[in-house]
Amino acid sequence: MKPNEKLLLENKAWASEKVAMDPDYFNRLAEVQTPQFLWIGCSDSRVPANEITGTQPGEIFVHRNIANMVIHTDINLLSVLDYAVNFLKVKHIVVCGHYGCGGVKAAITNSDYKALLNMWLRGLKDVYRHNREELDAIEDMNARGDRLSELNVKEQVVRLSETTIIQNAWKERQSPDLHGWVYGLKDGLLNPLMELKAGSRIDPIFRYDNLQ
Ligand code: CO
Repeated sequence: MKPNEKLLLENKAWASEKVAMDPDYFNRLAEVQTPQFLWIGCSDSRVPANEITGTQPGEIFVHRNIANMVIHTDINLLSVLDYAVNFLKVKHIVVCGHYGCGGVKAAITNSDYKALLNMWLRGLKDVYRHNREELDAIEDMNARGDRLSELNVKEQVVRLSETTIIQNAWKERQSPDLHGWVYGLKDGLLNPLMELKAGSRIDPIFRYDNLQ
């Protein structure tokens, strides 16, 4: 059997198992989704949002990209954020990085990954530059990458707060809270690093006074 055929077969088994346990399972889910969480994570196959948080379909709205970046010109990220905040009205947004992240490791090197990936990784290089003193002092390259993963998550949470989407939501309904977590591939544990409660201080240069 081809690997792709195996996925389809596993899918049939999974669907029948769900229905066997709860005949109404899919009918209920098909009607409406009311997730409380938006997850912005890394595309890495080892960090599946639902599995590591013990959540079910319907509980987390998910966006994933290389190294869980919040880039203010990324219309994919912004569309997901807009929909999650303004239509689903999620109460929490989690930016989840992970230790051992390939994107982070790549950004630390001086390799030319060609135009597209270089462009994507430059946000990480900026985080490195802003924390150069601390990061340069860490000799072990894996440990240095792991620290950059942490610093990057914090930076991406701050970037979320800089969007008008978040600022409007905070003004209108004092929600959502923003969380920065890092996942450990080696122990399967989530490490909560920071939290920006709705209404938290935003750097003045990003504060918009004519929100609508
Ligand atoms: Co990664």
